[in-house]
Amino acid sequence: MRADYRELDTTKTYLITGAAGFIGFWLAKCLLATGCRVIGVDNLNDYYEVSLKQARLDSLTQTENSSLFTFLKGDIADQEFVNTIFNLYKPQIVVNLAAQAGVRYSIENPGVYIQSNIIGFFNILEACRHSYTGAQGVEHLVYASSSSVYGANKKVPFAEEDCVDHPISLYAATKKSNELMAYTYSHLYQIPATGLRFFTVYGPLGRPDMAYFSFSRKIMKGEPITVFNHGEMYRDFTYIDDIITGVVRILGNPPAKAGVRHKVYNIGNNNPEQLMYFIKTLEKALAQTTGRNIAADKLFLPMQPGDVLRTCADTAKLERDFGFKPSTSIEEGLLRFAEWFTSYYAY
Ligand SMILES: NC(=O)c1ccc[n+]([C@@H]2O[C@H](COP(=O)([O-])OP(=O)(O)OC[C@H]3O[C@@H](n4cnc5c(N)ncnc54)[C@H](O)[C@@H]3O)[C@@H](O)[C@H]2O)c1
Repeated sequence: MRADYRELDTTKTYLITGAAGFIGFWLAKCLLATGCRVIGVDNLNDYYEVSLKQARLDSLTQTENSSLFTFLKGDIADQEFVNTIFNLYKPQIVVNLAAQAGVRYSIENPGVYIQSNIIGFFNILEACRHSYTGAQGVEHLVYASSSSVYGANKKVPFAEEDCVDHPISLYAATKKSNELMAYTYSHLYQIPATGLRFFTVYGPLGRPDMAYFSFSRKIMKGEPITVFNHGEMYRDFTYIDDIITGVVRILGNPPAKAGVRHKVYNIGNNNPEQLMYFIKTLEKALAQTTGRNIAADKLFLPMQPGDVLRTCADTAKLERDFGFKPSTSIEEGLLRFAEWFTSYYAY
């Protein structure tokens, strides 16, 4: 992790929801390494293999500062559970990463997105609001939005001021709704809040439902991979360390007191890769870590509903306010992923 630890205030208590998830795990690991008190919450649902979520938690409980980590299994859609945590631990910094992720799954199973992403987020906002009753209250709420809010926008790179009124999946609609809800709570109750539009995050201990991960699995098993839109897709892939560095810089810098204390930032690489080049780089990384010849068997298919052709982050606002821009190349990032992947699954 290359996050700048000096940015973190170790006197605060940090609540991370989705702490057994990919990004939540790496953030918790970074905060603990710095000596911060971390309360982690996750419902450990089985959207993807629970054993990987458990492995991430095991890593957090075996880390040097594990005594600073408290894990609570529960659902943010359960208001009583959320309120109990806020009352017991009085977190000053709240990072809401718990959500039902994935664009395609929202077409099959929309209900779970409403539960976790809308009701769950509402419960977090309410708990932040009530944290001010008789106490100092939450100093900064940071929450995950997504590049998917840009929908099928044609103008690239995607900038925070662009119109995002046309989400093409329910997942995207819930993330855009989170931004609207957070804005209202900041306006009405002065809760300092920052929404982060993450762009396709990848890396070690990543998410098995994402293409780079499922491709790796299929490639290693000798099964064909499905390449949508005949490979004519472009993604701004962002390495996990860059995401964590960005989040850490933002945590201690809530929006200033003037006006509504709500801001939204893109965190992406500002360097979209063509899907076919991405696959070639993944093949190389897997070949390098296994010492074998690797060539994916590709099955070309048309575009999938809900998918977007191209994502590309305009990171000028992030650079201006936090002096930071993601920069890890996919050659470097995929190699680090492949090293972890082939070792974890013993290929
Ligand atoms: N990884 C990406 O590329 C990416 C891109 C854009 C946005 N995001 C957003 O970033 C956040 C973190 O993503 P991730 O990649 O780490 O996903 P993840 O699925 O690995 O992590 C989310 C975690 O939240 C937990 N969770 C889900 N619903 C919950 C609920 N109702 N109560 C408690 N826990 C719950 C899950 O068990 C999981 O461990 C999510 O909000 C996601 O939508 C991720």
